[in-house]
Amino acid sequence: MEIISNCTQDDIKKAAKALKHGHLVAFPTETVYGLGADATNEQAVGRIYSVKSRPSDHPLIVHFSSIHQLDNWAIDIPEYAMKLATQFWPGPMTLVLKRSELAKNFITGNQDSIGVRVPSHPVALALLSEFKKLGGLGVAAPSANRFGAVSPTSASEVAEELGKAFAVNDLILDGGRSVIGIESTIIDCTKKTPNVLRPGFISIEMIEEASGIKSNLNLNTSKVRSSGQFSSHYSPLARVVLDQTPEAGEGFLAMATIETPVGAIRLGSPCSTAEFASIMYSVLRLADQQGLKKICVIQPLGSGLALAIRDRLKKAAFG
Ligand code: TXA
Ligand code: MG
Repeated sequence: MEIISNCTQDDIKKAAKALKHGHLVAFPTETVYGLGADATNEQAVGRIYSVKSRPSDHPLIVHFSSIHQLDNWAIDIPEYAMKLATQFWPGPMTLVLKRSELAKNFITGNQDSIGVRVPSHPVALALLSEFKKLGGLGVAAPSANRFGAVSPTSASEVAEELGKAFAVNDLILDGGRSVIGIESTIIDCTKKTPNVLRPGFISIEMIEEASGIKSNLNLNTSKVRSSGQFSSHYSPLARVVLDQTPEAGEGFLAMATIETPVGAIRLGSPCSTAEFASIMYSVLRLADQQGLKKICVIQPLGSGLALAIRDRLKKAAFG
């Protein structure tokens, strides 16, 4: 496995070729780092599952560089979904649509729907468009972490998480820290109205405004298998406790306006909700690196991104 920093166009071409040859390429997106494989290559996709230790019936998101590639993967696309795609792609939003013939069971976990996304990170977009030039149709990419663990937001975190499981020809593209820091908003567009399966940077309010339709937050009622919907997920080794005052020696994450209780180990002081999201996962990793047993997090209030942060924290704190 090789980590490529300061990705040049030649590096991107090399990575696109690696994907075409069936190797894995971890790459930055604006949300979190993804672990990519050619979405039409069953063997390559199989390696994603083994490297992550992910159960094989959990569907993957297919990434491509332009909205024009949507028709390859999805059929019967509702008008409101096209409005969302036009408004928010490239960007931190995944649409779940009725799948085409191209979307095989090894991508969809045997479901009749497919998750698709056009990410906005320049390295991701460059990789996906080079892959397209080579005849590639899409790149399947879950977050580049072991199943159930915290998503990585930097290349070094990917190497820490998965380095040992990578093969010699696999690559990690280093595109700096993921700016948003939590995974894309997932919207089920297989029904008459949009259903948010996983909240993220693209909020319900933004979805309603762009689609002109009232949408639902349907986190735990959907029948589709969505690993982010498990009650326990995104978990560090340290026990995460919400909205409690830490004892001396325990980790503490809260907005900068909240003072550190005596003896607690301050792990982060974000000044905004956006900064909270962008540092949250590395803070959880930091707690593990420091060998802390417990981290107390004071959750940010409000809707939009704060709601997505609380969704992830609830799962990190479960069990
Ligand atoms: O921001 C993101 O979405 C990142 C970056 C790399 O794009 N990817 C990501 O992938 O978070 P993953 O596999 O870690 O989480 C995707 C979630 C999973 O919970 C999966 O079950 C769900 O999306 N999903 C994928 N296809 C689906 C489908 N057809 N129906 C319902 N849920 C689906
Ligand atoms: Mg994930």
